[in-house]
Amino acid sequence: MDQIADGGELKRARLEREAGDSHRPSGRGHNNHENSQEKGSKNRKRDEVKTITRVIELEGIQKNYRIGESEFAVLKGIDLDIEAGEFIALMGPSGSGKSTLMNIVGCLDRPSGGRFILLGQDISQTSDEELARIRREELGFIFQTFNLIGRISVLKNVEVPMMLSGVARERRRSRALELLESVGISHRSDFSPSNISGGERQRVAIARALANDPKIIIADEPTGNLDLKNSEEVMKILSSLNRDGRTIIMVTHNPEITTNCSRVIRLRDGRIMESAS
Ligand SMILES: Nc1ncnc2c1ncn2[C@@H]1O[C@H](COP(=O)(O)OP(=O)(O)O)[C@@H](O)[C@H]1O
Ligand SMILES: [Mg+2]
Repeated sequence: MDQIADGGELKRARLEREAGDSHRPSGRGHNNHENSQEKGSKNRKRDEVKTITRVIELEGIQKNYRIGESEFAVLKGIDLDIEAGEFIALMGPSGSGKSTLMNIVGCLDRPSGGRFILLGQDISQTSDEELARIRREELGFIFQTFNLIGRISVLKNVEVPMMLSGVARERRRSRALELLESVGISHRSDFSPSNISGGERQRVAIARALANDPKIIIADEPTGNLDLKNSEEVMKILSSLNRDGRTIIMVTHNPEITTNCSRVIRLRDGRIMESAS
């Protein structure tokens, strides 16, 4: 699993430095950011985690959809701060707005109202091009339905984000292989995604999500289509990525797998109901 730790500590240090440079009043974090997140420390309770650089800040986020003449509210004022290194489980009934919220946090969609600061940057002021760059380089996406490209090989699927970022051919090839190896699936490199199992596909999708070494991983029901064994495998990988310092936000319906998470957030009818450490 070492390869997927690639640069984790360095990245983390850089992220903290960058966040320290931001002009937003933080109020917290300057005095007490050193540092209880030693590798391997298992029972990390949120209060013990002194690294409190904020990677996501949502303030009064609203999302309305228009259907014909009428507009209806899906997100009704979401306030949420997420610190670097958290592993968030987002739960809630079907239709409560989880995917809508994840799409906003993932810069796939814009809110109708409210303020969204991502990695110190006010996203409401950001151009579509810059949003695309953020999605490509700062965020990694994992979906319930894997969303791999069927007509190219597993290896090429992992190369795609690097291709879009202009990484040279040899370099992206070797990194894709390393990533596939780190999730235990390099023996499927030349396969088509349609000829491997669901569990294998999701591991490929995780490798792809890591291609550009993102700070934040957004996973919308990553185990939703997997059996128990494969779910556990995916959670093991996500936990390890989190221990390496990546922030993870994961939608799930399965309370059992939230034991891996540092905080559970519950959404109901477009509002956050409770947030438990
Ligand atoms: N593009 C859209 N246009 C109109 N309504 C939408 C759109 N996307 C989601 N919705 C509605 O918003 C609500 C929340 O959806 P979603 O965020 O997918 O919920 P969840 O992921 O919690 O199941 C649902 O009522 C859904 O029908
Ligand atoms: Mg959903």
